[in-house]
Amino acid sequence: MSSIPANLLQLPSSGIPQFISVNDVRDINGLVKRALWYKSNPFAHQSLGKNKKIGLLFLNPSMRTRISTQIAAQNLGMEPIVFNVGNEGWALEFEEEAIMSGSKVEHVKDAAPIMGKYFDILCIRTFPSLKNREDDYSELFIKQFIKYAGIPVISLESATLHPLQSLTDLITITETLQSNGTTTPHAKPKIVLTWAPHVKALPQCVANSFSQWITNWGGADFTITHPEDYELDEQFTRGATITTNQEEALKDADFVYVKNWSTYRDYGKIYCNDPEWMLTNEKLRLTNGAKVMHCLPVRRNVELSDEILDGANSIITREASNRVWAAQAVLSEILQHQS
Ligand code: CP
Repeated sequence: MSSIPANLLQLPSSGIPQFISVNDVRDINGLVKRALWYKSNPFAHQSLGKNKKIGLLFLNPSMRTRISTQIAAQNLGMEPIVFNVGNEGWALEFEEEAIMSGSKVEHVKDAAPIMGKYFDILCIRTFPSLKNREDDYSELFIKQFIKYAGIPVISLESATLHPLQSLTDLITITETLQSNGTTTPHAKPKIVLTWAPHVKALPQCVANSFSQWITNWGGADFTITHPEDYELDEQFTRGATITTNQEEALKDADFVYVKNWSTYRDYGKIYCNDPEWMLTNEKLRLTNGAKVMHCLPVRRNVELSDEILDGANSIITREASNRVWAAQAVLSEILQHQS
């Protein structure tokens, strides 16, 4: 192993590493540094995952997460196996003591231990129902896999969080600051998370997770702006400035992260779809030449305008490409723990 520091993750009481939120990270800057090192040295540790298998379970669609995690695993010598549970697997039951007389075919209590025998690391994408907030925010699906698989579990997006996306976002912000792409008059860069319109009710995962990572990182002056009634869960936004005045929020911003989410309090609703909230070049003029970010996929000219997406300030493609290095940093940390 190179001189890259290890032990960047916080081990849970089980002693089995996991990556489901920023709370699983001991050294955020260390993990970012490691990811950027892999960007320059992608094949440096090709024997780290030799003879090891990684399972990627998808209960929902994905493009970036699916491909980038496979590339990251292969860069480390692992064999990835993708299983589209949602379309191709038996319908899973997650409730304890369920009487399985309905449509669910297999209990996670039976399926997860088998995954734990087949794989060395298990990655899972679940999604929220957006119908029952308590159920979604209990994170039952991913918690049951952690409980019964007996091997490290990585979230590829859960009901409430998207940690690999957020790590990627922080990598991209750090890289941009380091390359002098952004010069800021502030002691800390000003980062703004702005709500954007959308035609569908979307999860709060990306917004929750981005807020959680940026506030825990502590290296930014962080503002969240959204229309009334779109408040996020305070457990993720504590420490941020929150305003319903988008123009005020955008003033002097160095980075603008654009994302739609549905309502949290009256759960999973669309209250407002005001096109005025879409980021345009005119609004960007309020910022400090801010770089624009989005996790993708994006609805063009609904969520973000063509002029922004195709403009010089967008770092969205770079952001998506950095998904590989975020996944590689996390996988290498877990593999080092196993070796
Ligand atoms: N940003 C993101 O997670 O993209 P996918 O849903 O395509 O994986």
